[in-house]
Amino acid sequence: MLKKNFVLTKECKHIAFIMDGNGRWAKKRGLPRHLGHKEGCKRIIEIARACQEFGVKAMTLYAFSTENWNRPQDEIDNLFNYLDDFFHDNIAEFHEKHIQIRVMGDQSRLPLHTQETLKDAINQTKEYDSLIFNICLNYGSQQEIVRAAKAIAEDYKAGKLSLDDLDKESFNDYLYSAGIPKVDLLIRTSGEQRLSNYLLYQLAYAEFIFTPTYWPDFKRDNLIDCLKEYCNRNRRFGGLENK
Ligand code: IPE
Ligand code: IPE
Ligand code: MG
Repeated sequence: MLKKNFVLTKECKHIAFIMDGNGRWAKKRGLPRHLGHKEGCKRIIEIARACQEFGVKAMTLYAFSTENWNRPQDEIDNLFNYLDDFFHDNIAEFHEKHIQIRVMGDQSRLPLHTQETLKDAINQTKEYDSLIFNICLNYGSQQEIVRAAKAIAEDYKAGKLSLDDLDKESFNDYLYSAGIPKVDLLIRTSGEQRLSNYLLYQLAYAEFIFTPTYWPDFKRDNLIDCLKEYCNRNRRFGGLENK
């Protein structure tokens, strides 16, 4: 099939995704929920390729929230197994394309095999800068902000930080997203229109797109449609000028 050409006409350095709808995708086909996660993992590498192709510098993916521990244990086990497979199957491509892997969230509660996989993936790719591939695992934005506040209090107590030096940029250095450009565009699949404890600080001026497509059906062409819509938005940042 011929690939549609697409060129971004508006700066879009960082896209955040809420990969939602895996379970409903499976249910619609009479399949167990975990097969929706399996299919969803296949879209991750395709969307990463497309982001790189379009010149996006960072992508952040919501893969497992702090609230997702409320799911049945076998769904959780399957999901982390698929994520392990994802990294093992694709690490060569990350090297080839100079993609840096980063993780946001408290990794200490993840299965040990996943912690090992992530440690290797992060170490092996930390010098790359063509695209930041940032995956959120056991991530909750409120917890991230509280963690930052505690670290700030510790640094202040130790005399490493003066309150005059604390502003919205230096606060970001205390978040998992330190050093990553601000989010320009948030895409949530599956029709839900909520943030579900995702990037509350980082999304301050992002454009939001909610698409009904389930994540396992979200392909390069769907991303192009979202980016076209994004390019038609007027980003005013509180001013009057259209950007
Ligand atoms: C998103 O798909 C993946 C995770 C939250 C882990 P869901 O599993 O939430 O799918 P739905 O929303 O039940 O369809
Ligand atoms: C948000 O999806 C978390 C991820 C996509 C990883 P959920 O399916 O968990 O969110 P809610 O429960 O519908 O808000
Ligand atoms: Mg969901």
